[in-house]
Amino acid sequence: MNAIARPIPDDVLDRIRAILGPKGWTSDAHELEPHLIDERRNYRGATPLLARPQATEEVAAIVRLCAEEGVPIVPQGGNTSMCGASVPFAHGGEIVLSLSRMNRVRGIDALNHTITVEAGCVLADVQAAAADADRLFPLSLGGEGTCQIGGNLSTNAGGTGVLSYGNARDLVLGLEVVLPDGRVWDGLRALRKDNTGYDLKHFFVGAEGTLGIITAAVLKLFPRPREVVTALAALGRMEAAVELLSRMRAATGDMVTGFELMPRNAIDLARHHIPDLMVPLEGEFGHCVLIELSSANPDGGLGAALESALGQAFEDGLVTDAAIAASEGQAAGLWRIREAIPESQKMEGGGIKHDVSVAVSRVPEFIREATARAEAVLPGIRVFAFGHVGDGNVHFNLNWPEGADREAFLARWEEFNRVVHDLVAEMGGSISAEHGIGRLKREELARYAPEVELDLMRRVKAAFDPAGIMNPGKVL
Ligand code: FAD
Ligand code: MLT
Ligand code: ZN
Repeated sequence: MNAIARPIPDDVLDRIRAILGPKGWTSDAHELEPHLIDERRNYRGATPLLARPQATEEVAAIVRLCAEEGVPIVPQGGNTSMCGASVPFAHGGEIVLSLSRMNRVRGIDALNHTITVEAGCVLADVQAAAADADRLFPLSLGGEGTCQIGGNLSTNAGGTGVLSYGNARDLVLGLEVVLPDGRVWDGLRALRKDNTGYDLKHFFVGAEGTLGIITAAVLKLFPRPREVVTALAALGRMEAAVELLSRMRAATGDMVTGFELMPRNAIDLARHHIPDLMVPLEGEFGHCVLIELSSANPDGGLGAALESALGQAFEDGLVTDAAIAASEGQAAGLWRIREAIPESQKMEGGGIKHDVSVAVSRVPEFIREATARAEAVLPGIRVFAFGHVGDGNVHFNLNWPEGADREAFLARWEEFNRVVHDLVAEMGGSISAEHGIGRLKREELARYAPEVELDLMRRVKAAFDPAGIMNPGKVL
């Protein structure tokens, strides 16, 4: 299935350069560098050429040429992939195609609550364009200042708003895609109802660039929140998180738009690396949750509902302390704690990450059992289990014991994958909740996915990309 890794002939590279014009490509080692190494520094690749097309027709012309010549293409957005999906292999027989110059907002239809953007729009810019039109684009994640909407759709990105607004898949109405043979599929429909046969856009969402190149998208917008209430609550015990979430949903008429679990040890590590990080909670606690409630109604009574629900939770021992943000600045400060958690783990050196999901109700059970199993294998292992508890997604990250050798620990990656992913499978969960498969979890997908699913995925890949030129060696 995969195109054979072989050097790309010079004349083919010259023809690609001619399509792009002088500003549309680079082969300069210095300029290529950030495009060849992945976000987590696990993979370093090589390429003779980075293509930077500025229009769909240019993408199509390049893909047509690559299809004729059997040249594999790695589509790249902001290169923030957590699973090595966006960088080429080291053999150097692939071109990288960056969408970053295709970053125009093509239009906003405020009354239809839609925005049409090119794939290279940075997520934060899409959010800002929506806000300028008094609308909300709710996809939100730590990498939003760098990642692009084409990458978000291609990974079906999750983030912190999923419990209320869904994943990237739920936010897209239409796509424009350059297919692996160079044809352009114009599926840029702005319709909320459309049952005309198979819903083709969903093949490309979460496909990690293996089925085609997304060049533009129609995205859903929402009314902009007028009342946002943010709080940090220390929990009596981790299990209280799920009960508290359920109570908050009921107390607010389902207005919980963020609910993130943070363990004490992850906060301590964050403070260690980022000493000015403010954590406004008193006393000892094992876990806390960041709660965000929001409503398009300026007087939705969310503050009162939060205080009353927290008060009751305090009486019932679910919560031991809480801080409610009194200003937008304070709310940003609470979110800063959440952002500092993965940031500080990267500063610590980066460990073995797992991005898993189970039923929301079983998150505490998963964390306790997975922690016990990891500690049984390696006493002293540092477990940082945090994340989007509101949608059942836990980042179960493992670091070497204090004083132990990091490299020796990382060499046991496979062993800890088994510990964590076997439990996920026992609990009917997912081994990749939001980051995708890429290169990192290809073997894990092959191990845990039912054969019939793998067979269907391979057939889909073969139907869309029979020559195997689109991001080969990723996902399958
Ligand atoms: P890239 O990394 O460039 O590419 C990702 C994949 O999509 C690759 O397979 C690539 O080939 C493909 N691709 C990119 N653009 C296109 C296109 N136009 N057409 C076809 N294929 C394409 N992810 C979450 O889901 N939730 C989080 O909370 C989250 N938090 C993060 C926090 C930080 C600090 C960082 C660094 C990353 C985080 N991520 C998170 C991971 C990452 O940001 C997302 O996966 C993001 O959606 C990737 O977008 P990108 O533009 O960087 O894509
Ligand atoms: C997060 O939720 O912070 C991200 O998915 C990043 C990570 O796992 O490191
Ligand atoms: Zn996440």
